[in-house]
Amino acid sequence: MKILVTGGAGYIGSHTVLELLNSGNEVVVFDSLEKSTLKNLDEIKLMTGKEISFVKGDLLEYDLVGLLKAQTPDAVIHFAGYKNAGESVKEPSKYHGTNVYGTFLLLEAMRECSVNKIVFSSSCAIFGNPEKLPISEDLLPNPISAYGKSKLMVEYMLKDYFVAYGISSVALRYFNAAGAHESGKIGEEVKATGNIIPLIMENLLGHKTGFTLFGDKFNTPDGSQERDYVHVTDLANGHLKALEKLGNSDGFFFYNLGTGTSSSNKKLIELSEKVSGKKLEYTVSEPRAGDPDFVYADPKKANNELGWTPKFGIDEIIKTAWNWHSISRS
Ligand SMILES: NC(=O)c1ccc[n+]([C@@H]2O[C@H](COP(=O)([O-])OP(=O)(O)OC[C@H]3O[C@@H](n4cnc5c(N)ncnc54)[C@H](O)[C@@H]3O)[C@@H](O)[C@H]2O)c1
Repeated sequence: MKILVTGGAGYIGSHTVLELLNSGNEVVVFDSLEKSTLKNLDEIKLMTGKEISFVKGDLLEYDLVGLLKAQTPDAVIHFAGYKNAGESVKEPSKYHGTNVYGTFLLLEAMRECSVNKIVFSSSCAIFGNPEKLPISEDLLPNPISAYGKSKLMVEYMLKDYFVAYGISSVALRYFNAAGAHESGKIGEEVKATGNIIPLIMENLLGHKTGFTLFGDKFNTPDGSQERDYVHVTDLANGHLKALEKLGNSDGFFFYNLGTGTSSSNKKLIELSEKVSGKKLEYTVSEPRAGDPDFVYADPKKANNELGWTPKFGIDEIIKTAWNWHSISRS
């Protein structure tokens, strides 16, 4: 199949491009490069010996109808967008602009060009502070940030576009994407991230100083927050499963992609210190407002309906993240 991957130069997008090529698909990447570079895609070309067509452009400005007419993809995987929940509260226009209106423009172009399959990067942020754990698909979404709201609005849009226009879609609600490809050749670029694991790695490597742990008095066994970290290659493979689903059935589908277990911030630090052989100096600050103690997925629906099961656990996540950060930043 020929797949158009928006945001394909970014973290999860580039890992998905690799898996798509490895399973015999043709890939066109559309990316503004605002939050990424061509580094991961160049590495992927070397790793696979395959071509990746690249189109530089912004969802809000580019002639998306022209793009789809020129490329004629069988399906779209849509990663392009902003992902910082904290920033979205201060700058909601960025999130409603790119994440919501940008996706609307893409869907309209798909409608005009009769491209009728899309896999969308949604997020566990649509659930806000969950009332019940683990988070299954029947929990009512209740986003807090403009980011979470932007993802939920797109889910509503996808449902309507299926009912009215027959565009089938899968919304994948990722929990915390983490780790890097096992080869150590591609990973999360530091320019895009505010995530805890890259920040721990950067501090251990001495590229950053002053790591802050946000609160250590949560109602968890070691007092630090627990989150569901899911390896980026497992997420990438979730997109292949979603495309398979769209090959067999029409509809609007949604799945929580997490491992079903959570790891505490202190555990991340401990594992990172072990794998690096270095000690992390850090201070503890007040918790961020509204940050829940635990967040973790119930991945049963994705297991049962997509046949998706994560292969990597937290040890491999930390090992591959360290491997990537220590190689790419040396
Ligand atoms: N990383 C996570 O833990 C996580 C969790 C849940 C959901 N998501 C979602 O998954 C998607 C991918 O996340 P990621 O971690 O790979 O982020 P990323 O920032 O590495 O990748 C996003 C890519 O989109 C591009 N982009 C941004 N705005 C664009 C625009 N207007 N036009 C064209 N390209 C644009 C960026 O340059 C970047 O390459 C995002 O939509 C994000 O909200 C990520």
